[in-house]
This record gives sequence, structure tokens and C-alpha cells, in this order.
Amino acid sequence: MAQITDSKTNNVTNKKVRIAIFASGAGSNAKKIIEYFRKHELVEVSLIVSNKPQAGVLHIAAENKLPILLIERERFFRGDAYIQELKGHGIQFIVLAGFLWKIPDMLIKAFTGNIINIHPALLPKYGGKGMYGAFVHEAVITAKEKESGITIHFVDELYDHGDHILQVTCPVYPNDTPATLAHRIHELEHAHFPLVIEEVIMKKFS
Ligand code: GAR
Repeated sequence: MAQITDSKTNNVTNKKVRIAIFASGAGSNAKKIIEYFRKHELVEVSLIVSNKPQAGVLHIAAENKLPILLIERERFFRGDAYIQELKGHGIQFIVLAGFLWKIPDMLIKAFTGNIINIHPALLPKYGGKGMYGAFVHEAVITAKEKESGITIHFVDELYDHGDHILQVTCPVYPNDTPATLAHRIHELEHAHFPLVIEEVIMKKFS
């Protein structure tokens, strides 16, 4: 196994970088990420975090025998933001894959530069509170955009705001519905997100 250098402490270890995936929905991105890193030399999906007890992503976690952390609003926003729990699982990097709660400042500080998000549109357009999933695609279609796409970005204290890592575009057709556009966007997400996660982690930890 290759060596990993922790960019904060400069300690060299032979351990894999442990990532947590935060998701609130079906979890198709989480599934692709889990599959991509299943036999990876340097990166391991170690925890699935969700705020929704009925979320499809929890079935995906169970099928892959991954630990699940179900979080509650009060403790997330007004308590310790589950930082001890995440550190207890050895988490070094957080991936938001369809996670619908804003990340509290405390958690951002604890994982500075080590949280990334995927958004199903070309930010800064169609971002912010309430802009998620089908709502984003509906707004894009209503505005008669000719183009949409995905944005993968670092997470900061503001919704959908941190530095962009990658944007990829796709066409929006006149007869698109939110569902057909969502399908096209999901294909882009599945193709790019695991690779971007790998690239960012390699830059930061090796
Ligand atoms: C994805 O399209 C993701 O970009 C979006 O939720 C979907 C989750 O799908 N995220 C947001 O809208 C965040 N604002 P999935 O559960 O199948 O991965």
C-alpha cells in the first residue's frame, strides 16, 4: 500500500484516507463512489451519513456493509455537529452527494478544505437554499436555458458557494422534463464525481 502524508501534521502512514459520504436521497452518486473506491489502494469509503431514516442511500450502505450514522437536526445545528463521531470513525474527508442540510460552520472548521459537494446545475446559477434535485431542473427548464450541467466545489460557510473544482455542461432540449434532464445530469455526475474525489484526495493527502 502506498504511503499517505497528512497535509496538516505531515505524519506519514500506510493507512487509507477514510471518507464519509453525506446523502439525503436515493444515493445513486453514493453507490458509484462506493463502487469506485471498493478496491482502491489509498481511499476508503468508511461511513454513510444521512438525515433521513427512509433514504434509499441507507439500503446502499447496508448492501455494502458500511456503517451508517443517522443524524438529528438539533445536535447537528445546535450541538457538536457530530464531529466527535466522525473523528471516532477516523474520517478525514467528507463528500456531500445529494445532502440537503447546510453544513454548520463548526463542521466546516473541523474539516477545513476537506469537504466537497456536487450540485446539479452550473453554479452560481440555480444554487442556494431550496435549490436541490428536481427543483433545480424545473427552474432551468422554466428559464428556457439551452445548457445545464454539474458543479463540483469545495464547501464553505455559504450555500453552494465554495471554490469550483469542476464544471461539466450538457444540453437542455426544448422537450426536456425535470426527469429527463435529471437523468442526463445524473449520468454526468456518475462519470465525474468519483474521479474528482480521487484527484482532490490525492493532491491533499499524498
Ligand atoms: C444529485 O443530482 C445531486 O447533484 C443533487 O441531488 C441529487 C442526489 O441524487 N444535489 C443537490 O441538489 C444539492 N443541492 P442521488 O441521491 O441519486 O445521488
